[in-house]
Amino acid sequence: MREPGCIAIDGPAGAGKSTIGEHLARRLGYLYCDTGAMYRAVAWLALHEGLDLNDGPALGALAERSEVAISKPQIADGRQYTVTVHGHDITWEIRSPQIGRAVSAISGHPQVRSILIAQQRVIGHQGQIVMVGRDIGSVVMPDADLKIYLTASLQERARRRYLEMLERMGEHNPALPSLQEVMDDVERRDATDKRNMQPAKDAIIIETDNLNIEQVLDMICRYVEGNK
Ligand code: DC
Repeated sequence: MREPGCIAIDGPAGAGKSTIGEHLARRLGYLYCDTGAMYRAVAWLALHEGLDLNDGPALGALAERSEVAISKPQIADGRQYTVTVHGHDITWEIRSPQIGRAVSAISGHPQVRSILIAQQRVIGHQGQIVMVGRDIGSVVMPDADLKIYLTASLQERARRRYLEMLERMGEHNPALPSLQEVMDDVERRDATDKRNMQPAKDAIIIETDNLNIEQVLDMICRYVEGNK
């Protein structure tokens, strides 16, 4: 009988991983880590430094030397956490469609993945933590105590992602994309992310089209209880 240490939540873009992950972490009093933000921060840096997005070795070196920090939010503007690179706050900038496009290319390079996966393993072993990503249960933390794979239809995922961004960013935020842009982004990323999307064989698959946040959380919490 023991509390799960690491809870892995994987799934495609817009399946609700970050919303569910954040709520779950808060409900359980666990740390929360969104590994997608780490890939996005490297994408931001690569664009900032004008690197070739096809140059795996250069991007891997960038990931290794980049000082990305993800911390508790100090600003109440809807953010889940604050992301900084070399002290510069990029929390909202990494949500732009431009970064959405670049991050798919960047996360496909094994040189980048191996660096970020090693960093994520250190974070994942820090104690009670909810980790959200694509390959947490299968690659990053194969020894995670509980592995959840969230999924939903393309339309539903795009709709949710748009509403979530609207709520967090506000309708006047210039970085807010349109619903169509979000749909295109989710669809395109489904195709490219497939390479690195590896549901663990022992993951619990939750299809969330007809479930609200509370229902998904209750379902996961029952598995957490069952794990004790
Ligand atoms: O979850 P997200 O949309 O913020 O993820 C951004 C990108 O990073 C996405 O294209 C997939 C990639 N990613 C990944 O390959 N592995 C992870 N563990 C997390 C994200």
